[in-house]
Amino acid sequence: MTVPEEKAEDPREIRRIAAEVGRSVVGAAIARAQAHGLGGDGSIEGHPIAGDARATVLVEALPYIRRFAGAVIVVKYGGSVRRDPAPEDGEGERIPLRADLSTFVEDISLLRAVGMKPVVVHGGGPQIGEMMVKLGKEPIFKDGLRVTDAETLDIARMVLVGKINPEIVAAMNVNGPIAVGLSGADAGLITAAPKADNLGFVGDVGGVDPTIVTRLLCEDLVPVVATIGSDTAGQAYNINADTVAGAVAEAIGAEKLIYLTDVPGILADPEDPDSLVRFLGSGELAAMMAGGSLRGGMIPKAASCLRAVRSGVRAAHILDGRVPHVLLLEVLTDQGTGTMVCQ
Ligand SMILES: Nc1ncnc2c1ncn2[C@@H]1O[C@H](COP(=O)(O)OP(=O)(O)O)[C@@H](O)[C@H]1O
Ligand SMILES: [Mg+2]
Repeated sequence: MTVPEEKAEDPREIRRIAAEVGRSVVGAAIARAQAHGLGGDGSIEGHPIAGDARATVLVEALPYIRRFAGAVIVVKYGGSVRRDPAPEDGEGERIPLRADLSTFVEDISLLRAVGMKPVVVHGGGPQIGEMMVKLGKEPIFKDGLRVTDAETLDIARMVLVGKINPEIVAAMNVNGPIAVGLSGADAGLITAAPKADNLGFVGDVGGVDPTIVTRLLCEDLVPVVATIGSDTAGQAYNINADTVAGAVAEAIGAEKLIYLTDVPGILADPEDPDSLVRFLGSGELAAMMAGGSLRGGMIPKAASCLRAVRSGVRAAHILDGRVPHVLLLEVLTDQGTGTMVCQ
């Protein structure tokens, strides 16, 4: 696939480029199918998916590429998405990129290549917990929130800003110099406020100044945000990444807010993976939250979805990030997956 090199500032120009990219993707797929020689039944020898089926998928993408050209899409990459165990330390060996990360960065790069403006916000709760255990510090939770003393804050900062963020940025930049890592403390992006008296440096979003994010987006770069914020005196706080993703989506006026997590979406019964709720209006989601069927890590996601769609974000989605390429399936095909929340 060739991506036009010219910069597009004008939305009409972006749409034209996106349509062109879509056409060239489809053209390339059809040409490849023909080069392989389509069989009488449309299948290609040695290829599990028929050539015309592949082309159909690409053609199906075209209206979505057109519709979302130039649109900001905030994607929260949950810490629980990680599919592979952390690689063993092999002496001098290269560490392979985890499968979940490599398909995720491919999806983000492709969405950008066809003219969308993705913003990545990442979490890292499980990884902070693992590092605390390694350092001999016992994680303590109150009402599902990690009590964060000064040492725990340092660990959270090391893991989020020092490890996970550069890992995502480096993986993304394999596809071209497109990603820039930042934390909520950069250029005043997130002003933090303490969440509660007894939780230490657990923050809430006090305010968002999206200027740095919009500046990066104008340069066709993908901001990758670690959710450490800072208060007006410069004190750092660890903030729930779901909350940050929602607040950033709201502040930029994003078209979509997408959560990638480790369940198929919002479940009517958290114990039953077959009880997926595919579509929720904001009133229905509010009722579900009040009814108590959302627990733990789903609560900040649901609350942020609700706020975001009520403040103008067109749609919020909760998807199973363990499914390879779930982001492309959701944004570029007719096959909706997971839960979609609209106003
Ligand atoms: N009603 C529900 N539907 C789906 N998941 C739920 C529900 N209630 C609670 N959960 C929990 O929310 C978890 C996702 O949140 P979390 O563990 O914080 O992951 P993430 O890293 O994506 O933020 C799921 O693994 C699930 O156990
Ligand atoms: Mg979580």
